[in-house]
Amino acid sequence: MQKFKKVNSIKGELFLRGDKSISHRAVMFSAMADGISVIRNCSGSEDVSSTINCFEKLGCKFEINGDQIKVTGKGFKGFAKPKTELYAGNSGTTARLISGILSAQNFESVITGDESLSQRPMKRIVEPLKLMGADISANEKGTLPIIIKPAVIKPVNYKLQVASAQVKSAILLCAIHLDEESVIIEQTPTRNHTEKLLNLKTQTTNEGTKIYASRKNYPQPFEITVPSDISSAAFFIVLALVTKDSEIIIRNVSLNETRTGVIKILRQMGGMIEIENEKEESGERTGDVRVYSSRLKNISIPKEIIPNIIDEIPIIAVAGIFAEGNFKIDNAKELRVKESDRIKSLCTNFIKAGLTVEEFEDGFELSGTVSNEEVMFESYGDHRIAMAFGVLSMLMKNGGVVNDFECAGVSNPQFVAQINNLCNY
Ligand code: S3P
Repeated sequence: MQKFKKVNSIKGELFLRGDKSISHRAVMFSAMADGISVIRNCSGSEDVSSTINCFEKLGCKFEINGDQIKVTGKGFKGFAKPKTELYAGNSGTTARLISGILSAQNFESVITGDESLSQRPMKRIVEPLKLMGADISANEKGTLPIIIKPAVIKPVNYKLQVASAQVKSAILLCAIHLDEESVIIEQTPTRNHTEKLLNLKTQTTNEGTKIYASRKNYPQPFEITVPSDISSAAFFIVLALVTKDSEIIIRNVSLNETRTGVIKILRQMGGMIEIENEKEESGERTGDVRVYSSRLKNISIPKEIIPNIIDEIPIIAVAGIFAEGNFKIDNAKELRVKESDRIKSLCTNFIKAGLTVEEFEDGFELSGTVSNEEVMFESYGDHRIAMAFGVLSMLMKNGGVVNDFECAGVSNPQFVAQINNLCNY
């Protein structure tokens, strides 16, 4: 349980650990490469630790020194057969991406996860990997555990059925084990860190973006400095926008175009957000994000941007409560299969906050104002729900409490310490 007091303003400079999506991939690709790689500013999240633990069981060595990791990778098909199940914890990215890699190995493996991950849909990766010849199965409900046995895999020409970077990456990571080229067609853009880090060729066509992958793209040892996590930054950006007399600067944030939807939407809502010192680092765009207190108004959020803001919808909704007009989101059914059913988690907590909530199958609409009572929110074991309601608590007259807040460590174990450094009460 974590109590949050009402905050008057936030001010100062914030350094966040590396982006979680990029860090997962940096760990996986360095583990696959033949030799030593170095990852700087790696995410300190529990999710990325889950990925590291899985690759340790596959025989890789990780020397962790603060936010820097020296990785000794095993090279093409060099992984050792794991002695136990591979436990992906709470991390969908770990379970789904590793399934693509393991589908191409010559040994059997079993992937498990915690209670939340064990309820999340895995058919979305099992089906395309089966089309590639993989011997992969989930249980009868289409969930974990996943069992993968050795099989002869073949290239695919596959049109993605869900707008999901995890599904896209699982297929691509299997495809880079084959000499012949595979083609994956993506109709709605999703985060493209796999494509960038593996230098995959992409082509815009009438059918969507075609992504090409073959053994030519198998990773070699590398060094990378991971830019700071924009999804973690979003909680601080909203807190600065909504509190009076606030100004913060968040250093060296990942500004990959498939991730900056949150900045675009908050700017359209009237948020004063400036980007400074923009540069390219390890193939990814980064910059300092400066945020000032702003008057916000709600806007209509277009369907195409949803995959780009999918992880930030909980905190954008919190911003929407303090903006003119009603906050409404739709076309976001994917929220139902995240670390919790986020539509339900958000709606239940917003009702507790005193708001009028209309829930749809693919979103919700909020009206009214937050109550003056101290409210006890539930995290539902979901890190982004925990932090979103931590921020909402800090915006309520008598503060609030978030039950089971510790799950915030899934993406940002430093959240409370960072808040305490910036907040004036
Ligand atoms: C991620 C992709 C997204 C996102 C998740 C991280 C990734 O999931 O929600 O937090 O690193 O590829 P989906 O691919 O299921 O949309």
